[in-house]
Amino acid sequence: MKTVFVTGGAGFIGSALIRLLIAESDWRIVNIDKLTYAGNLESLGGAGRDARHVFSHSDICDRQAMDALFAQYRPDGIIHLAAESHVDRSIHGPGDFIQTNVVGTYTLLEAARAYWSTLAEPERGAFRFHHVSTDEVFGSLGPTGLFDETTAYDPRSPYSSSKASSDHLVRAWQHTYGLPTLITNCSNNYGPYQFPEKLIPLMILNALAGKPLPIYGKGDNIRDWLYVDDHARALRLVFERGQPGATYCIGGRNEKTNLQVVDTLCRLLDQQRPRANGRRYEELKTFVADRPGHDQRYAIDAGKIQRELGWTPTESFESGIAKTVAWYLDNGEWIAHVQSGAYRQWIDQNYSQRQS
Ligand code: NAD
Ligand code: DAU
Repeated sequence: MKTVFVTGGAGFIGSALIRLLIAESDWRIVNIDKLTYAGNLESLGGAGRDARHVFSHSDICDRQAMDALFAQYRPDGIIHLAAESHVDRSIHGPGDFIQTNVVGTYTLLEAARAYWSTLAEPERGAFRFHHVSTDEVFGSLGPTGLFDETTAYDPRSPYSSSKASSDHLVRAWQHTYGLPTLITNCSNNYGPYQFPEKLIPLMILNALAGKPLPIYGKGDNIRDWLYVDDHARALRLVFERGQPGATYCIGGRNEKTNLQVVDTLCRLLDQQRPRANGRRYEELKTFVADRPGHDQRYAIDAGKIQRELGWTPTESFESGIAKTVAWYLDNGEWIAHVQSGAYRQWIDQNYSQRQS
């Protein structure tokens, strides 16, 4: 049985990946997560209680803790998702982004390298350090063109520059030390269990509460949307079959302006949960000050992963967004726990037990 480390496994994409791996592989998963505000063990559902899921409440910046985990579990590889992930937060306070995304990735690379250098063949050759990154490292597109694996780096926000730094570190560890690394750069994900600070869940929850739907600037910025379970399948494929040292761009070819996304959400909510006052959700749309340095357009050419590994997304934006709205309407308990802070109970219970 393979043992694989997943960092950030209590987050939005990490939890989707663990749900997939527990359901569809026989691997043991060691989920390494610090449980920041974005970490929620409830997002793992039944996978979190599976005997093949081991949770380690650890910070990837803690070298001793990382060394101890490598020594104890002797993994076959690592899929590294732990990060500070929200652009607006990075603008208000970049420090945590530099710490986790840059220093944390460096710490993990060094712990992985120390462990990997002790391995004999064939384990040494088979080991993989898969770093999960973003299309934002490529900067912003004009009206035409797509990002691909050859696009030059041009990050513009504290978040994207911290992710670009971590990508460079991963490539350097591959080039200098021969660590078998993989990098994936993905476009905007959406789907169940996304923390309601990001555009889609924020709009759904604000609409349901009758609150304004804050659209930055003119709402004409474009993002390329990918359903999170399609991303999770791509990650598994790259981890298992990607060429060591290679990069793969992942995206859904679903370019939408933010206004189109919000209008779609309002229309779906009008159908699925009409407002009690008989009015339309679109009346809640409110144009607010733009995000500083707001990237205009992202769009991914996912041709390489399609050609080389046979990956294609299964959800169109229309099917994925309808499933997403239905999920938020059906999962009031998860939402209530996030909104009340009760999702952090695991931390409260474990810390109070340790202290008492
Ligand atoms: P998220 O914010 O939902 O989850 C991040 C997880 O990392 C949380 O569980 C958090 O507790 C954990 N974490 C944060 N700091 C940590 C630390 N120091 N040590 C251990 N754990 C820590 O993020 P997400 O949206 O699931 O994104 C996951 C990864 O995918 C990130 O690396 C992000 O840059 C990348 N990515 C995200 C998207 C997207 O649209 N969400 C797109 C492309 C790439
Ligand atoms: O492209 C991949 C990236 O996508 C990931 O690397 C990031 O981790 C992820 O957060 C996401 O970044 P974005 O900044 O694109 O996502 P966000 O949901 O914050 O915003 C999407 C768009 O919607 C963006 O143009 C800003 C706009 N927006 C966002 C919010 C939260 C609004 O207009 N109003 C809002 O309230």
